[in-house]
Amino acid sequence: MTDFKRTLITSALPYANGPVHIGHLAGVYVPADIYARYLRLKGEEVLFIGGSDEHGVPITLKARNEMITPQDVVDKYHALIKDSFARLGISFDVYSRTSAPIHYETASAFFMKLYREGKFVEKTSEQYYDEETHHFLADRYIVGTCPKCGFEKAYGDQCESCGTSLSPTELVNPRSVLSGNTPVLKETKHWYLPLDHYEPWLREWILEGHTEWKANVYGQCKSWIDSGLQPRAVTRDLDWGVPVPLEDAPGKVLYVWFDAPIGYISATRELTPEWEKWWKDRDTRMLHFIGKDNIVFHCIIFPAMLKAEGSYNLPDNVPANEFLNLEGDKISTSRNWAVWLHEYLERFPGKEDVLKYVLTANAPETKDNDFTWKDFQTRNNSELVAILGNFVNRALVLTEKYFRAEVPVAGELTVSDRQALEGVSALRGEIEKSLDNFRFREALKNAMDIARLGNKYLADEEPWKVVKTDQERVKTILNVSLQITANLTIALEPFLPFSMEKLRGFLNIRGFGWNELGRTNLLSAGHRLNPSALLFEKIEDHQIEREIKKLLDVKKANEATMAGLSPAKDPVNIDQFGAMDIRTGTVIAAEKVAKTQKLLKLTIDTGIDTRTVVSGIAEHYTPEEMTGKQVCILVNLEPRPLKGIESRGMILCAQDPSGKLVLVSPESLVKNGSEVK
Ligand code: MF3
Ligand code: ZN
Repeated sequence: MTDFKRTLITSALPYANGPVHIGHLAGVYVPADIYARYLRLKGEEVLFIGGSDEHGVPITLKARNEMITPQDVVDKYHALIKDSFARLGISFDVYSRTSAPIHYETASAFFMKLYREGKFVEKTSEQYYDEETHHFLADRYIVGTCPKCGFEKAYGDQCESCGTSLSPTELVNPRSVLSGNTPVLKETKHWYLPLDHYEPWLREWILEGHTEWKANVYGQCKSWIDSGLQPRAVTRDLDWGVPVPLEDAPGKVLYVWFDAPIGYISATRELTPEWEKWWKDRDTRMLHFIGKDNIVFHCIIFPAMLKAEGSYNLPDNVPANEFLNLEGDKISTSRNWAVWLHEYLERFPGKEDVLKYVLTANAPETKDNDFTWKDFQTRNNSELVAILGNFVNRALVLTEKYFRAEVPVAGELTVSDRQALEGVSALRGEIEKSLDNFRFREALKNAMDIARLGNKYLADEEPWKVVKTDQERVKTILNVSLQITANLTIALEPFLPFSMEKLRGFLNIRGFGWNELGRTNLLSAGHRLNPSALLFEKIEDHQIEREIKKLLDVKKANEATMAGLSPAKDPVNIDQFGAMDIRTGTVIAAEKVAKTQKLLKLTIDTGIDTRTVVSGIAEHYTPEEMTGKQVCILVNLEPRPLKGIESRGMILCAQDPSGKLVLVSPESLVKNGSEVK
């Protein structure tokens, strides 16, 4: 692990079409940040790269739905994502974006080099085209009936109802999202990276050369390679993206998965003129932190691109994680089933480290895992508060109390003193072994074991009892406890940076390097501590219940949408509601409106007058049924002519998603003209 001089850490560039959520954090950014902080603390040369992925079809679709430009979409989410990462303390050396000019330049040059050297194959294929709007249609721009389940709004790449992956030509009755018209097949030329040519090399490089990669990563690579690699198109017909830098390619852009990983290079160039040393010096090791849905792109396609280019390093490891679920369900941006980072930061101010802690302790490293608010609370209360906070607080408070906040002199060490201190050193070895192998949850547990060890030490030595008989012994016990506390500021720094900064403040110390972890004299006798406070606070039931309630509301709203109910409309105030004059009235006569299916002409005694209302209920009520019924009527609706009859008002009905319609009537008879409010 030491035959390199520096480490380039990349973290998957999140799509700038929505905020980031806990799944992104647990899978990618929290482990990458821990690793970067660990290496920096060891004094190693390291760069940690991040940025927003601002191309791709979902962004153009979102822009269309919201009637704004794709640039507006990415500007909004890039700013939101960048800011929330900064507030969580994700320590990127650079956070760039793929709409940056330097990225356009880097990605175009990369494409051109491969193009000139004949690394692409050109192919013409037939693709769906909208003749009205003159667009080739990406898969997501085509909807139609699913051939498997008959769902009428399946997308060209997938049916969201039955989950089947589709290709656009499999859809029954395909329609263009742009115009609603039936698209036609039209020829279009694209450039392909012939992945099949790279198969023997990929086999050797990964399947023989990187057997140390995580089992989930290696397994996915093997199954991709074994199932036979196909040429991959690296261009698309789309008007959002890096334009294909060729004369004969109007309306074509680089495929988002071609340009986005080049974004890692662009971001490095944006950061430093020495970027080449990070990408081309063989003494640099590159690591890609990603989620499992990105494995094929980072282990097969991007490496094949880099190999084709020829001058770049290949990744040394790709420690991809599995997925995090939320309260038993898959996290979903479209279903709003997520804990959004920017919302968490608002709702739990000052608890940035708590989220990182929980996501690491429960990281989906080898299998999918579940985030629950109950577990969040338990980890905070029984681990951060009860183990770490408790130990540190006792060491600090007892020193304040017995020794006026000065580190006491240690006398001769007993066996148990030495065991405690040696325990810290031993745990350093464990933490390193875990971190070096990207086992972050285990590393965090090892680091927390230092606090566990400290608690056990205090419980065994009972300084609060010994103080009555042996002051000198208490000095030693607290000296040892404070040395352990100081060691914690090193061991937990990669995981809990804000809290360890706070703790260093209490201890009145600078930040130590990783190599000082295990030292038994980090604090010298006589050193003055600062006033301390609690390091962590308990999270109360009501805080958790508020979050669970919020998720239940999301679930309910999703079920309602699935059942065809529309979401709540924008709020109105009481005056706006009060402006509507709704009264009770009795239908005194009813007849069908001639030559219509749906309309009844009603004569209604509203208490204040007798008036005519034309109502679209004829398919639900006969004139006979209506006569004599008491109803509710909006009496101040502007009169409007319907089929030559002036209708004055509207009667209130409820209609369910299937179309069934019923009158809304007073629960028991009431004077006509009564106000409904
Ligand atoms: N935007 C992609 C995703 O969220 C990740 C892109 S990683 C990069 O899945 F390498 F392409 F940048
Ligand atoms: Zn289906």
